[in-house]
Amino acid sequence: MRGSAGVFDVAVIGAGAAGMMAAAMAGQRGLQVALIDHAAKLAEKIRISGGGRCNFTNIGTGPANFLSQNPNFCRSALAAYTPRDFIDLVERYGIGWHEKHRGQLFCNDSSESIIDLLRRECDLGRVAWRMPCSVAAVARGNGIFTLRTSLGEIRAHQLVLACGGMAIPQLGATDFALGLARQFGLKVVEPRPALVPLTFEPEHWKAFGTLSGVALEVNVRTGAGKGGTQFLEDLLFTHRGLSGPAILQISSFWNPGEPIVLDLAPGRDLEHELLGAKAGNRQQLGSVLSTLWPRRLAEQWLANARDAQHDIAVMRMADAPDRLLRSLAGQIHRWPLVPTGTAGYKKAEVMRGGVDTRALDQKTMQVKSVPGLYIVGEALDVTGWLGGYNFQWAWASGAACGRAL
Ligand code: FDA
Repeated sequence: MRGSAGVFDVAVIGAGAAGMMAAAMAGQRGLQVALIDHAAKLAEKIRISGGGRCNFTNIGTGPANFLSQNPNFCRSALAAYTPRDFIDLVERYGIGWHEKHRGQLFCNDSSESIIDLLRRECDLGRVAWRMPCSVAAVARGNGIFTLRTSLGEIRAHQLVLACGGMAIPQLGATDFALGLARQFGLKVVEPRPALVPLTFEPEHWKAFGTLSGVALEVNVRTGAGKGGTQFLEDLLFTHRGLSGPAILQISSFWNPGEPIVLDLAPGRDLEHELLGAKAGNRQQLGSVLSTLWPRRLAEQWLANARDAQHDIAVMRMADAPDRLLRSLAGQIHRWPLVPTGTAGYKKAEVMRGGVDTRALDQKTMQVKSVPGLYIVGEALDVTGWLGGYNFQWAWASGAACGRAL
C-alpha cells in the first residue's frame, strides 16, 4: 500500500456494477484497492437483471436517455466509455450476446458471466475483497478516510461511494451513499422509486384487476405540451395496476397527482375501422372488437362501457349508432388515468434522484469540495431509461472514476 502502512490507496464501498468497474480499473493501474460490500453474495442486482440475462448496455446510449436535474453532467463519462468499450470487454471474455429490442444487448446465457467478468477484472487488479463487511461510520482527517467496519478499521487515501440506490432493499439496497453524501455537505435530489409499476385506487381498479396478465402495445404519455414525455412500448395489466415496459418507462417521468394518458390502439384509426366494419354486419360489437383487440380486454372494456339501458357488447354492429362507435374509439385512443402511487422500492428497478451532481467533477466523479471523495453509479442523480442505460451509466461513471483515482 502507498503511504503509511495499512492505508489503501482507494477504498470502494459497494461491489456492484459501478464499484467493481472503478476498483478493477484503479487496481489495474497499480493502485491498492479495497472493495467493500455488506452483501454475502456478489452483485445480486446484476444476477437478477434482464430476467437473468443482464441487459448490459444499449448501443444507442446518449445523454437524452437519462433523467437528472443536471442533464449535461453524464455527457463526458458516457463519451469516454461507450457501449462499444463494454462490448469489447464482453467479447474479450468470450461472452455471447444478442440485441433484443431497440439497441438492448443481453447475454446469450446468463448474467453470471458478467459478474464473473467483473470479478476477474478486479482480480487482475489485485483488488482486496472485503465482503461481507458493513461500514458503520466514515471519518476524514489529514487526507485519510477512516472506515469503521465489521472487519475492523479500513483506511484509504481516496474513497469511492458506489453503494447504488434504494431499489430492492430485500437484496441489500440502502440509502448509505445519500447519508454519507449529506455528512460531507452535499445536496441530495429527492429520491423516488423509478422504473416501477403504477398502482390505482383498489375500488377504481376492481374492473381492470380481472385483466391481470393481459399485455398489449400502447402509447403512454405524461406531462403537458413540450415538457411531456411519451413511450411506445408494451403494457401489462396487473391485479394492483399497470406494469410492463411502457409503464416502467413513464413511471420515471410521472409526478404524483398527475395523470398518465394511454392510447390502447396506437398507430391505428379505430374509429375508421369500426365505422368501416359496420355496414350490413350482423356480428355483435363485442365479437368485432375482439378481432381488433385482445379478447379479454375487449370484453371488459365493453362491460365497463355498458350503460343502464344497453349492453353494448351484444349490440349488432349494423345497429350501433355512429356516435357510439366514435365515442368508443375515442376512449380507447385516449384513456386518462391518475395513479395513486407506485409499487415502491420493493418493485422498482432503480432510484430516481440521488446525490446532486452539481457538486461533482463530470470527468472524474470527484466531489469538488472534498478531495479524494468520488461517487459513481446509481447513487448519483443520473437515472437511465429502461433498456440497458443504467448499466451503461454504471460502467461509464465507474470507468471515469477508475481512470482518475
Ligand atoms: P448496485 O446496486 O449494482 O451496487 C451497489 C452495491 O452496494 C451492492 O452490491 C450493495 O450490496 C452495496 N451496498 C449498498 N449499501 C451498502 C452499505 N451500506 N455498505 C456496503 N455495501 C453496500 N439496469 C440495466 O441497465 N439493465 C438491466 O437489465 C437491469 N435490470 C434490472 C433488474 C432489476 C430487478 C433491478 C432491481 C435493477 C435492474 N437494473 C438494470 C438497474 C441496475 O441493476 C442498476 O442501475 C445498477 O446495478 C446500478 O449499479 P451500482 O453499482 O450503482 O449499484
